[in-house]
Amino acid sequence: MQESIQSQRQQLRQIMRNKRLNLSEQEQIQASNSIIVPAMALIEKYKATNFAFYLPFNNEICPLPLINELSAQQKQIYLPVLHPFSKGNLLFIRYDNCKKSLKLNRFGILEPVLNVQKILPLNQLDIIFTPLVACDKSGNRLGMGGGFYDRTLAQTSSNLIKIGLGYKFQQVDKLPVEHWDMPLDYIILG
Ligand SMILES: Nc1ncnc2c1ncn2[C@@H]1O[C@H](COP(=O)(O)OP(=O)(O)O)[C@@H](O)[C@H]1O
Ligand SMILES: [Mg+2]
Repeated sequence: MQESIQSQRQQLRQIMRNKRLNLSEQEQIQASNSIIVPAMALIEKYKATNFAFYLPFNNEICPLPLINELSAQQKQIYLPVLHPFSKGNLLFIRYDNCKKSLKLNRFGILEPVLNVQKILPLNQLDIIFTPLVACDKSGNRLGMGGGFYDRTLAQTSSNLIKIGLGYKFQQVDKLPVEHWDMPLDYIILG
């Protein structure tokens, strides 16, 4: 009997998360630095100014060196926070590079303190960089299982460039996909 899509996805999440937890610090640093050049090439191609990123959780590939590079170029960086009312959705808040303006959310992920003056409407984002648990060669993305990016990206226009960041081992030939999964435009593997 064929395994259900749900259990295939759950198994793949488990395998990838274990592999990620086994990475050495050196491997993580090297991968995180290696995404800067390909990411900058895409950023240049789209003449983008407003970027959504994430802060790494559970050994996700770390975008901080890339964020620092962009901040130095006066680009605007936004980070996701759990939407306070609209369950399962994300809001994007300007990141001012200050650790004090961050707090842990209910999943234990660092996020900016919610401040309505720092919210950027989704339609003003140019590029969104997402973390991923697994991806495939067609741009499909598997997340942690909460569907937060799927719900949020379903409300964005096709002009928003969606770029997944991950380690090379996270890419498989073909992911078991669901109809609600929002595909990525590009994937950069470090
Ligand atoms: N646009 C959406 N509207 C409502 N629910 C959604 C939407 N996208 C995803 N979901 C729900 O989120 C849950 C998790 O989605 P899933 O794709 O498995 O997680 P992830 O993308 O984090 O790997 C699913 O139960 C799915 O029904
Ligand atoms: Mg999904």
